[in-house]
Amino acid sequence: GYYRRGGRTPLYLFELSQCLLDFVVQLLPSKEEVSVKEDVRKLLERLIKTIEPSAQLLSFGSTANGFELKNSDMDLCCLLDLRTDPLPSASQFVLRAAQLLEKETKFAVKPLPNARIPIIKLSLQPSPSIPFGIACDIGYENRLALENTRLLFTYAAIDPTRVRTLVLFLKLWSKRRKINSPYHGTLSSYGYVLLIIFFLVHVKDPPVLPNLQQMPPMRPISPSDTQINGRNVWFFDDVDLLRRKWQSPNTDTIGELLLDFFRYYSREFNYTTTVASIRAGHLPKELDPTKPIDPREGTSLWIEDPFETSFNVGRCVTRDGLYTIRGEFMRAMRILTTKHETAMASLASLCE
Ligand code: CTP
Ligand code: MG
Repeated sequence: GYYRRGGRTPLYLFELSQCLLDFVVQLLPSKEEVSVKEDVRKLLERLIKTIEPSAQLLSFGSTANGFELKNSDMDLCCLLDLRTDPLPSASQFVLRAAQLLEKETKFAVKPLPNARIPIIKLSLQPSPSIPFGIACDIGYENRLALENTRLLFTYAAIDPTRVRTLVLFLKLWSKRRKINSPYHGTLSSYGYVLLIIFFLVHVKDPPVLPNLQQMPPMRPISPSDTQINGRNVWFFDDVDLLRRKWQSPNTDTIGELLLDFFRYYSREFNYTTTVASIRAGHLPKELDPTKPIDPREGTSLWIEDPFETSFNVGRCVTRDGLYTIRGEFMRAMRILTTKHETAMASLASLCE
């Protein structure tokens, strides 16, 4: 029953929520860090304009979606006027811009022109004036990433207290527990954020968030305005209106939601059969019957990208990686539902 949900009382859940709020405040970057990063963006933009005058360098990822932690890296995307003639290819751009930045800045520069998404990696060691150092990836013409950043930003803006607190806590937790590393078979921050939004839109009943991609538009939309690279990127993005008009019928506290999140993904979500789609809810996995079944396919985590719907954001997660992640969800459940002196002690041991 309600009074013993997960073995905990409403008082404990209330205390847990307060602690989560306090905990997360300490994770935020300082004003100084935010302004140094913005200065870096402007500097890089100015330099790149010397080789491509129409270039704009825009932030995406955590520096732009409201889910930034201290010391998080910067994701930047270079857009050119598409009438630029000749329009450089991504790898040409990466090589030329890297050469320039190598010459004109103190950053360590590493071009990756042949990656699936070509990027330039920049880094600056910590120094007295920049105690957090800087790590920055510059991509090129990655317009879908700018749109999915705006989508996450809008979800965060609807219910900032609950959404941002949950996301920031889970990002920190996944980093501390070493399960936030697509290069090592676990899930990116972006993947965790999609899992949280999926949970808040499609699992919680009543929902905490509306489905922004399925809301009726305020005015007619023409498909040509909402297509990027052949993908429909429309979503309801009027933040002011959403804040004024959308009142969630769900009043769960942050502590309850966190506990439910861990419970859902450790026991209830069916990883074998289900695709988590924030656009369309629970979708069945459609395995191609003409192809031999990849032994990993049936167990792997499948998270549909909100716009690039054929893309699985969880595709980097290996069988072992998923096993580890689910083990961590279970560990988290166990810690939050067993006795600790204080809720703060539970959170600390969760992130050990
Ligand atoms: N992205 C994407 N597709 C992926 C992974 C990432 O489009 N498979 C884009 C998204 O726009 C995402 C951004 O890259 O917002 C950054 O991803 P990531 O680094 O995982 O998330 P951050 O919020 O920047 O988290 P962190 O602070 O850990 O860097
Ligand atoms: Mg990032």
